[in-house]
Amino acid sequence: MSRAFHPVKTKFGHGRRARRRIFAVVWRTELSAAHAPVKLVARPAVSLQGRVRAPGDKSISHRALMLGALALGETSIEGLLEGEDVLRTAAAMRMLGADVRHLGEGAWRIRGFGVGGGLQPDDVLDLGNSGTSARLLSGILASHRFTSFMTGDGSLRRRPMQRVIDPLSRMGARFEAREGGRMPLAIVGTDEMVPIDYRLPVASAQVKSAILLAGLNTAGETTVIEPEATRDHTERMLRHFGAEVRVAADDGGGKRITVVGWPELKARDIMVPGDPSSAAFAAVAAAVRPGSDVTIENVGLNPLRAGLYRTLNEMGAEIGLENQRDVGGEPVADLRVRGSILKGIDVPPDRAPTMIDEYPVLAVAAACATGTTRMLGVAELRAKESDRLASVAAGLAANGVKHDMGPDFLVVHGNGAPPPGGGVVATHLDHRIAMSFLVLGLASRQAVAVDDGSPIDTSFPGFAGLMHSLGAVIEAA
Ligand code: S3P
Repeated sequence: MSRAFHPVKTKFGHGRRARRRIFAVVWRTELSAAHAPVKLVARPAVSLQGRVRAPGDKSISHRALMLGALALGETSIEGLLEGEDVLRTAAAMRMLGADVRHLGEGAWRIRGFGVGGGLQPDDVLDLGNSGTSARLLSGILASHRFTSFMTGDGSLRRRPMQRVIDPLSRMGARFEAREGGRMPLAIVGTDEMVPIDYRLPVASAQVKSAILLAGLNTAGETTVIEPEATRDHTERMLRHFGAEVRVAADDGGGKRITVVGWPELKARDIMVPGDPSSAAFAAVAAAVRPGSDVTIENVGLNPLRAGLYRTLNEMGAEIGLENQRDVGGEPVADLRVRGSILKGIDVPPDRAPTMIDEYPVLAVAAACATGTTRMLGVAELRAKESDRLASVAAGLAANGVKHDMGPDFLVVHGNGAPPPGGGVVATHLDHRIAMSFLVLGLASRQAVAVDDGSPIDTSFPGFAGLMHSLGAVIEAA
């Protein structure tokens, strides 16, 4: 896939515009083609042993490409996640006029166009499965004086976009969407945006980031009020690129995050830490198999992302932090996870934003634990790549795990013994459902299959290989 990032001479000729057309064509063939479903099965494992390295953080990778494109000069990125979602963002930045090059494994270089300097994309931006690309990009597109179009795969076209349409419309952009604020979306942007003070109605880093990115090309100060803190990678990275971002307590509770418009973002070097959400699969697999001893190197432990590890500790998991350090302005450590018998606990609603992507794999840990685990205040799971509450509940049911599901909760009853397993789980184009239930297969009495493992490549190419290196058997069914 990386071939697509090298400039080539073709019948379209040379130069920037020609390259943009070529890449649009190459991307359409390489990334937009629907995946053929790949049925995978995970077989019970005695224990897992070994040392692996977490792939680059998906959230930080998207932001590095976007801010590199909005900066002037040459940004170098090391450790970029080369999953399909992030490649969608790279392609979109290129269609806006950034020179984005792939130099080698995880190593990228971007020559940006500067705040407000993007060109009108000459085709529909196809963002595949990637909600982060779609939401964050809508803030950039809305603050440019041109019209652009976005679409995505069957999963992304079902996901709510109204949450970004509302604040960006208040700032002055116009949108046309399908019923229910769904993609495809037409965005009529403006370079005369009005700064707003906006209280987030949902705890969403994507919505916060869309507004802050729009605030870059807006005169004055744009403020997002966050009642519940969500991942702060955008704020950290905006500062790294030279923007003024202020964070203060809000009188009504929560945080006020203010970006000062029209900064001159300057190109920077970025080191992307490993992804705690991807590391979670190997961590849970090791934690629930007694006798396991696995070290996962380079795991980002931003406190606003680390809720799963706190929860596993409370369940009695043995997780040691080694080699704690700072990578690219984010706290990082190597995690040493040893297998044990976990116990069920209550996971409070206010922890949800710090582990929102980890509930499916936590449900797997809970299925192997002794006692009941209650996951409360998790309605947002219904707005992910699939309705994750429904997908997880169906997967547990297919594998003989007792549970209860409500509008905003999931309760899993474990009895300390390996779950029965033996089911086939529908993944609904959701990478985390696929990986979570493959982890269940490693810990169950009988193998567990997923109907389609192809979405795993959106966030974790190499997942099966990494798990193999620890002794797991995950193969085509
Ligand atoms: C993300 C934020 C979260 C998370 C997603 C990545 C981000 O979504 O689920 O995988 O990079 O900002 P929400 O902001 O919608 O909660």
